[in-house]
Amino acid sequence: MSAMENDRAGRIGGQILAVEGVSLAFGGVKALSDVSFDVREHEVRAIIGPNGAGKSSMLNVINGVYHPQKGTIRYQGREYHHMDPHEVAVSGIARTFQSLALFKGMSVLDNIMTGRNLRMRSNILLQALRIGPALREENEHREVVERIIDFLEIQAYRKTPVGRLPYGLQKRVDLARALAMEPKILLLDEPMAGMNIEEKQDMCRFILDVNDEFGTTIVLIEHDMSVVMDISDRVVVLDYGRKIGDGTPDEVRGNQAVIDAYLGVSH
Ligand SMILES: Nc1ncnc2c1ncn2[C@@H]1O[C@H](COP(=O)(O)OP(=O)(O)OP(=O)(O)O)[C@@H](O)[C@H]1O
Ligand SMILES: [Mg+2]
Repeated sequence: MSAMENDRAGRIGGQILAVEGVSLAFGGVKALSDVSFDVREHEVRAIIGPNGAGKSSMLNVINGVYHPQKGTIRYQGREYHHMDPHEVAVSGIARTFQSLALFKGMSVLDNIMTGRNLRMRSNILLQALRIGPALREENEHREVVERIIDFLEIQAYRKTPVGRLPYGLQKRVDLARALAMEPKILLLDEPMAGMNIEEKQDMCRFILDVNDEFGTTIVLIEHDMSVVMDISDRVVVLDYGRKIGDGTPDEVRGNQAVIDAYLGVSH
């Protein structure tokens, strides 16, 4: 184990989130069946599995978009039957999307500013007039956003409409927007999908930097196994809505059920 990995392992804390016995069905389709796993503070927790395994559904349960028929979610000492999307965001869980959800005609800077909306205190009228406390508040938000822009090395594109950027950079802007919420937990749904090798390497580095520098807990869905094995502390494996594996990358790699369902199959 390298010194850096040792450092990271030493930073992992207690349980921050736990999913217990979650089942979710859409009509006759069982998207999730009795799935349980936990997430520890500061770890990088991957969710892997074949197409349709229920990975995105799991993130949608965690952020309150889907309400499971069974099971509970424990977060910050409270137990929920289902989460409320607004409460989730305010309480420090942010996400990026499998298909990008940015405003293509708006600049990089303005897209990232939308991540601050939840934290805006002054009312819309004062904000529009840019007077008094609203002006001071806007300056504070801009400072946070500028720090994130520097951190993710997108200074050169601050004023560029997002739709004109290459795909890999658009994904980075989506990460920046989520980070602007200053989340405790960041849910990333295939942040490297569709990227070339160089873009993937950059994204890996940024995810680990966010984890190291801000202490953000990361829950990550990813199909590229070399990425998963490289950057995650623990991995959950789903197949047809069921959990078939859970452990360190090495444990999961050696799990016969996981090899049969996923790792042994080319994808
Ligand atoms: N809103 C929905 N309405 C109906 N069925 C849905 C809905 N969302 C997901 N499903 C179904 O639930 C199952 C799990 O889908 P999900 O998107 O969670 O899989 P996934 O593991 O993220 O797959 P992929 O790797 O292709 O992104 C699939 O059969 C899917 O068709
Ligand atoms: Mg998905």
